[in-house]
Amino acid sequence: MTNLLSRYLAFAALITTSLAAQSTLVPHLEKRGEATQLIVDGKPWLILGGEMANTASSDLAYMDTVWPQMTRLNLNTVIVGMGWAWVEPEEGKFDFSLVDGLLEGARKNHEHVIFIWFGSWKNSISSFAPGWVKRDSTRFPRVRIYGGLPVEILSPFSKETLAADTRAYTKFMDHLAHVDGDQHTVLMIQLQNEIGVLGDSRDRSEAANAAFAQPVPSALMDYLTKNHERLSPPLRQLWESAGARASGGWNEVFGKNPLADELFMAWHYGRFLETMASSGKQAHPIPVFTNTWIVQPDDRGPGDYPSGGAKPVSLDVWKAAAPSIDLNCPDIYLPNFPDHVAAFHRWNNPIFVPESRGDAAGVANAFYAIGQHASLGYSPFGIDDTARLLTLRPEVGTPGPRNLEDTPLARGYAVLRNLTPLILEHQTNGSIGSAWLTSESPRHEIIVGDYHLICELRHTRATPAPDENAGSGYALAIAIGPDEYIVAGSNAQITFLSRVNDTTITSIAEASRGTFQGTEWHAERQMSGDDIMLDYHLATAASNRQSASGISFPPNGPTIQRVKLYQYQ
Ligand code: DGJ
Repeated sequence: MTNLLSRYLAFAALITTSLAAQSTLVPHLEKRGEATQLIVDGKPWLILGGEMANTASSDLAYMDTVWPQMTRLNLNTVIVGMGWAWVEPEEGKFDFSLVDGLLEGARKNHEHVIFIWFGSWKNSISSFAPGWVKRDSTRFPRVRIYGGLPVEILSPFSKETLAADTRAYTKFMDHLAHVDGDQHTVLMIQLQNEIGVLGDSRDRSEAANAAFAQPVPSALMDYLTKNHERLSPPLRQLWESAGARASGGWNEVFGKNPLADELFMAWHYGRFLETMASSGKQAHPIPVFTNTWIVQPDDRGPGDYPSGGAKPVSLDVWKAAAPSIDLNCPDIYLPNFPDHVAAFHRWNNPIFVPESRGDAAGVANAFYAIGQHASLGYSPFGIDDTARLLTLRPEVGTPGPRNLEDTPLARGYAVLRNLTPLILEHQTNGSIGSAWLTSESPRHEIIVGDYHLICELRHTRATPAPDENAGSGYALAIAIGPDEYIVAGSNAQITFLSRVNDTTITSIAEASRGTFQGTEWHAERQMSGDDIMLDYHLATAASNRQSASGISFPPNGPTIQRVKLYQYQ
């Protein structure tokens, strides 16, 4: 080998190694023990997030006033929109000055960012597509519903729309690779928003009808067959009740009902986004997720809600159609938050909650998703509306916040921030759990470490149960040793029952309230007496193998306690 050639090869090897090193350094997801975590600069990251109003990010002067408030709310990640129309107002002419301005504002305020690519779809419709796309419905056709009526939704069956959106999105990702390849301010991308057809269960345009007349694609059939036992329950049930066929048309495989239309749309939206996500990842390989408008209680069927988004019945269809999408997430405004998190958290779908509420009940949601489902984090919507946040009380009967630092969300995030290293460590081995409590579901038993934790909405010793105005309560517990827990909560009380020894009774050896300073526990107050005696009915408690002692959290936002348990008999 000539000297020159060997020097060239050494140089090429160096470039390859440094590119590989850079790609492991960009934010990415990693399976760590039982959890899938977001890794930023080599370390796991818990998203304490908030999402801006849709168009806030198009107004940099406004954003200048907002960034410092995000820091005061204890957010570490802000979700902001990026409209296709904003970066490609004229076809082929790209302008990323908004992106750069947003990154500058975020960095100045030590915030991280998740961008939402508002491309072809936002809440089903196509309001963020540029004018040159909107005006040309021949080149960029709309979805047609029954009766042939066009609706304001770009059809996912158009190759032109796919090519145009993919090109703009890839340019955007390429720009991020250039301006953020080293700094990693941008952690993830949400691709589109609340996809699906509203007004009918599927697109009935000519192109869509032709696709519907084809058999279910073999790639989807292979996925269903291979993963039959672990399909999301509503899909498995639908497929089995139609005979669990290995091939056929959409109505043969999934039955003659509107859900077959919904799965058909899910597949085609999924393929569309797969093209976009894989192209974007070639430019900048950070994680990508979708968010879904979930079925509302009054909905009669697909089309009342956007038909084709990734939801429990269609999650596996999306997984088969779009492997480059890392997570399919819900936005959850419905009251039964735990049910929706559980339905989206599957063996092949780790959970993140990009949109939900930001009041005290929202803090309960955050503690629950992070502690019980190893969520990548939490993010309430409309976070720039700080005037509204200031009207929210930590709990029923408690005084309103005086400043942003005192809002339920800021106080909740302060505690989650304090516990972040412990939470991330224990998410990986499952020694963490959370309870979510309301007056309708005032008791939630969880297993953490060697104990059952019986978590209840806080009530007084004199009254056996919380009253109906008790608001919401929550507790997040981490087993840090065989008989030792860190518990954070609000408006909750917890008693412990050993899983290991069924002849002994468990009680509190020591408890203190405090915070972590680095890795050191800093106790502010010792807890005993009235703090831990939860019930005067010792005979009843003893007959249930309980001591009537436990730990209790007042209803004015979360506090942290460290507790050591002991057994007697
Ligand atoms: C859900 C959407 O995803 C958001 O972009 C926003 O429109 C909210 N709804 C409004 O409540």
